[in-house]
Amino acid sequence: MPILRQIAQLGQPVLRNVAEKIARPDDPAVQSLIDDMLVTVADANGVGIAAPQLFESLSLFIVAPYPNSRYPHAPAMEPAAMINPEILWVSDEMEKGWEGCLSIPGLRGLVPRHKRIAVRYLDRKGELREAEYEGFLARVFQHEFDHVQGVVFIDRLENTRELMTEKEYLRSVQSHA
Ligand code: NI
Repeated sequence: MPILRQIAQLGQPVLRNVAEKIARPDDPAVQSLIDDMLVTVADANGVGIAAPQLFESLSLFIVAPYPNSRYPHAPAMEPAAMINPEILWVSDEMEKGWEGCLSIPGLRGLVPRHKRIAVRYLDRKGELREAEYEGFLARVFQHEFDHVQGVVFIDRLENTRELMTEKEYLRSVQSHA
């Protein structure tokens, strides 16, 4: 049975390590970690979560956007586990968008990201997948990819004035909806 895991909060050293590649995606420990990540990210209303956020320094994350109370305008996508992810190409064009993080509760920041990216990863069956993402999906992938490199979204802010509390953020998106 999958279990809800505790989410590492900013300050935990595991969030600042470069995660290790996974040698065997079919390892039962990796498969049960993926199951735990899926229930943990859904319970927390997240749109993605990376293994280091569950105190596992492994190159693995879940991308699982859907519209919810934390991200009312997110697109919906079947949750996908991405193992040993790589970014193959990025657009020169950047786009700023508001991000939050389950490891940094209560804050949102306006983060510049590449608008389009091409990526490669192993799915949970160990099959090699290639994909292109743009907009919100590209943003979620880049945010989670940062986590397996030991980087968090506040590192990428251009200006601390582009931070706000989650409460004010949600108030502003509701008033513009
Ligand atoms: Ni995060």
